[in-house]
Amino acid sequence: MANSDATLRDKRILLVIAGGIAAYKSLDLIRRLKERGATVRVVMTRGAQEFITPLAAGALAGGTVYTELFDREAEQDVGHIRLAREADLIVVAPATADLMAKMAGGHADDLAGAILLATRLPVLVAPAMNPAMWAHPATQRNIATLLADGIRLAGPERGEMAESGEAGTGRMSEPLAIVAAVEGLLAGGKADASENVADGKPLLGKHVLVTAGPTHEPIDPVRYIANRSSGKQGFAIAAAAAAAGARVTLVAGPVGLADPEGVSVRRVETARDMLAAVEIALPADIAIFAAAVADWRPAHEAGSKLKKDGSGIVPPLHVTENPDILATIAHRRDGRPGLVVGFAAETDDVLENAEKKLGRKGADIIVANDVSPANNVMGGAANTVHLVTPEGIESWPQLPKDEVARRLIHWIAGRLKPTA
Ligand code: CTP
Repeated sequence: MANSDATLRDKRILLVIAGGIAAYKSLDLIRRLKERGATVRVVMTRGAQEFITPLAAGALAGGTVYTELFDREAEQDVGHIRLAREADLIVVAPATADLMAKMAGGHADDLAGAILLATRLPVLVAPAMNPAMWAHPATQRNIATLLADGIRLAGPERGEMAESGEAGTGRMSEPLAIVAAVEGLLAGGKADASENVADGKPLLGKHVLVTAGPTHEPIDPVRYIANRSSGKQGFAIAAAAAAAGARVTLVAGPVGLADPEGVSVRRVETARDMLAAVEIALPADIAIFAAAVADWRPAHEAGSKLKKDGSGIVPPLHVTENPDILATIAHRRDGRPGLVVGFAAETDDVLENAEKKLGRKGADIIVANDVSPANNVMGGAANTVHLVTPEGIESWPQLPKDEVARRLIHWIAGRLKPTA
């Protein structure tokens, strides 16, 4: 079974298989890991044994499969504390919603739970579940907790589910994608993929275009339509891109923030001005549209201040739609930036709406955030984001906006094709 490309030679992987239909893929995962030179020890939950047998997993792994927390033989032999320690990495695949809830809550009432609570090893989880279960706030909360605990995610991905007619995000990543994540983790050995970029300047030589802030759409010389965006997240992204070595153009709506160091800033007022400034700033390798552009503007801007005429009749406000800057740039045939990143400010069904926006706007990545008033994102200092791509969703814990910016820039840099 040895492979000339033994990228995991001498690596010891503890694979925890939980109960889901995707468990059958874990058999292939064992093969793939072993092909690359890894030793694989397998733990199966009771649920997993409904889908595949310990015998099959043990035959492929070439050893005993551990299933019980209180197994007299195993306790004398290895036991859960040793299982939790004698490896380089723990992979949980498939990770069910239930097992992730257990991990987030620190439950240890079965062998898998006890190992995952007792371990100090890096843990990679590959979730697999029905899209509704994945999108449920409880699961998303648990994921955020796990990420905050330093656990790494592979997937889930979009696609057809085993249940007929169901599609959405929740499918377990393919074994080779999990193997790639394992290799990445063991090679870097860092808790944050962004740290894997050795020189800290992964965007050297790249031009990054960022939009930020709100737009103001004038009604008359003294009044305008606006929104509550502070521009903090976009400015932080521009600063992080500059720190990563990029040449950065920031097109900013009206905000009271100072120009970030080393960033070329164009200040604009309206959505149409913003689009024009963006067009002028192109070409760019990466465009990140963080602005909260006003969707509508008054159809006619009055040349002088509108006055009450004493009749009690309120003047009607007719609005017209603004250009969609992100969609315009993302759908360009010529001169489309290599990577187009949009934001999705949502108050309901955050992930679902973000996935729809990804397709509709033609972006490569949508950074979704829940801007419900309770979260205090607009104007606040912290943000909780979900990175939505055609391949799947990655959710991050609540982080300061500066840290979201830094991680996002390094995450994006990691997705740039080497030739881009
Ligand atoms: N955007 C843009 N131009 C617009 C509206 C939005 O460039 N006229 C960009 C934003 O910068 C962001 C993304 O599109 O990257 C999504 O913005 P959002 O306000 O969440 O979505 P809308 O398109 O406004 O859709 P809706 O209001 O229906 O949620």
